[in-house]
Amino acid sequence: MIKTDVIVLGGGPGGYLAAERAAHGGKEVVLIEKRALGGTCLNEGCIPSKALLNSAKLYEHAKDSANFGVTAENVRIAHKQVIQHKDRVVHMLVAGVGAKMKANGVNVVTGSGYVEGKTEEGFVVQVEDETYLGEKLILACGSVPAIPGIPGLKEGIENGFVMTSKEALSRTNLPEKLIVIGGGVIGLEMASYFAMTGVNVTIIEMLDKIAGPAEREIASILLRNYKRRGVKFRLGCKVTEVTEQGVRYEDKGGERLEQADAVLCAIGRRACTENIGLENLGISVNRGAIETDEHMQTNIPGVYAVGDINGKVMLAHTAYREAEVAVNDILGIEDSMEYEQIPYVIYTNPEVAGVGETEESAAAKGMNVRVANVSMNYSGRYLAEVERGDGTCKLIINTDDNTIVGVHMIGSYTSEIIYGAEMMIGSKKTITDLQKLIFPHPTVCEVVREALFM
Ligand code: FAD
Ligand code: NAI
Repeated sequence: MIKTDVIVLGGGPGGYLAAERAAHGGKEVVLIEKRALGGTCLNEGCIPSKALLNSAKLYEHAKDSANFGVTAENVRIAHKQVIQHKDRVVHMLVAGVGAKMKANGVNVVTGSGYVEGKTEEGFVVQVEDETYLGEKLILACGSVPAIPGIPGLKEGIENGFVMTSKEALSRTNLPEKLIVIGGGVIGLEMASYFAMTGVNVTIIEMLDKIAGPAEREIASILLRNYKRRGVKFRLGCKVTEVTEQGVRYEDKGGERLEQADAVLCAIGRRACTENIGLENLGISVNRGAIETDEHMQTNIPGVYAVGDINGKVMLAHTAYREAEVAVNDILGIEDSMEYEQIPYVIYTNPEVAGVGETEESAAAKGMNVRVANVSMNYSGRYLAEVERGDGTCKLIINTDDNTIVGVHMIGSYTSEIIYGAEMMIGSKKTITDLQKLIFPHPTVCEVVREALFM
């Protein structure tokens, strides 16, 4: 039996950051990972998708650059090479996480961990023939694609006709026609890649709006941009069956069949709470996700759950912060998790980013707000680089105390701008104070400054 201070189960962003921080704080740490360090994020999520999207953006720029005085002939995208580039990036980052663990003295164990129970000395986790005993236990097993019981879906996945994001990010050939089930974040990012590479894409979304967390007006601008690229949408349509040639869905006019060469299923993810022995400790699970308090502790003292496994906000940056909060609790450092100001980004082209309240959520909370809405074309850099763009920046301002409570944007670089907006909200400074900030010129973030004077 190997004794340690902290056992971390799962080596994704939540797990590896928790391991690193706990080791840095002087704890002896065992990190158990059954596949590859970096988890979904590095191996089949955030990073691979962004690598693909960047290639598609380069391709589109090269094709459409005549307006900017640049012509390139015979511009093509070699999908296989795109995948190879993605694989190189993933390899480097995964190796980097391994090096970080080594540098911090984390004992990385490869294998599937199973929680056996608790003794007086701590929590018992079994990995193949070895038993680990930890004073504290951090659960960070992440999530997997949700595969609901839609008839034909499971069979479609088994025979390769239906992909989840994992297969879509590794596929070495491009389909001619693709149906995407779900117009949420994964569906839109993957559709963006495939559409930019010339695939005929149809997105079928159950709701009347795409882009889940995005603000309504911004989601409609995104929709317009996709339609311009030829992506077709079936909104308010629920997929009811996957057939051998396509999918069947319900819309107001009845049932319809849409044919395709491939289908991507992107209808959410579910926390990995099964078959890891949670019942042996009596850990509370609600709707398939582990319940936690503001210190990321479960109902069992000494056991924490960070990242997608707690199902709260399934984002890598949330997992990072939750990991820090859990480790701080273990180290006796006062800290707690707040979910109100977590920024979101959808890495479509154009990008969507936001943080805090929308007009709708503010109204639901009975807040008195006004909206300062500014076109991205107020930025000289945006106009120079995009020319015919329809990006926008919306500040949601609390009229009772003149502070910003939400910022929502669509346009280039918004993923890089949004953290500044998060700081503005967090600082609780008034608009009058924020107007004194000096923004570098010319930048796209200057639209925020314009909006502050609206
Ligand atoms: P994971 O990254 O899922 O890691 C969990 C790890 O635990 C895995 O490596 C798994 O093998 C391991 N594990 C599970 N069970 C066991 C066991 N019993 N024993 C040992 N190991 C185990 N988020 C963003 O913030 N930005 C993005 O741009 C973004 N893009 C995404 C794109 C896609 C296509 C997908 C699918 C997700 C994306 N996400 C993005 C979400 C992000 O990947 C997750 O929120 C994040 O990876 C969660 O981290 P985690 O550590 O909780 O879990
Ligand atoms: P999602 O929850 O964002 O979107 C799923 C969509 O599918 C919803 O809009 C839903 O209405 C629709 N849907 C469900 N059942 C349907 C049916 N039968 N027919 C038609 N539509 C249906 O889930 P998604 O896109 O799978 O992403 C999962 C998670 O991954 C996200 O919630 C996010 O946490 C993470 N992620 C984050 C990214 C980012 O930060 N940029 C990128 C990709 C993923």
